Amino acid sequence: MQKVKDKYFKTLIPAVDIQAKVTEIANLLNTDYADKNPLLIGVLNGSFIFLSDLFKCMKIDCEVTFMRVSSYESLRSTGKVTQIIGLKEDISNRHVLIVEDIVDTGQTLVNVKEQLAKLKPASLKVVTLLNKPEAMLKPLPLDYVGFKIKNDFVIGYGLDYDGLGRNLPDICVLAD
Ligand code: IMP
Ligand code: MG
Repeated sequence: MQKVKDKYFKTLIPAVDIQAKVTEIANLLNTDYADKNPLLIGVLNGSFIFLSDLFKCMKIDCEVTFMRVSSYESLRSTGKVTQIIGLKEDISNRHVLIVEDIVDTGQTLVNVKEQLAKLKPASLKVVTLLNKPEAMLKPLPLDYVGFKIKNDFVIGYGLDYDGLGRNLPDICVLAD
């Protein structure tokens, strides 16, 4: 049991299982994107640890950048998605992979995909470490998914509770 701010969390996915899954996803990308020089775009802040581990397992030519959006406050999604910020790269005709820590309601991703699609990438796919299928507001194609989890609040491995808990090596779930 781990106390973060005012709540207790217990391990849901241990670090060793996360690393095995990250390697598995990277291997798929190494095959699917060989000779495509994909641009991996991490959605900050949550994706930075996942993306860094994933990137280290990439054996093909590939590039990385980050962008920011915000739709989450404390324990629940606000539903308001702000504009994407911080993307300086020209993504036209590039093979783009959006890298997310988690797809919850899916609102962030719908918005991000819409905005990136306007910039005319050669292809646009999604990599997410976690997905809460029950929380998704509408079906959304997720191309590479690490773990499907229940509709519970999780932290660790980049995910936070009010800014805290991102540094936990395991993915931990709110204990009741
Ligand atoms: P969505 O727009 O509802 O899919 O959620 C998007 C963002 O909310 C994710 O990229 C996360 O940063 C954050 N989020 C969603 N679920 C959780 C959670 O269980 N713990 C921490 N952050 C979460
Ligand atoms: Mg996020």
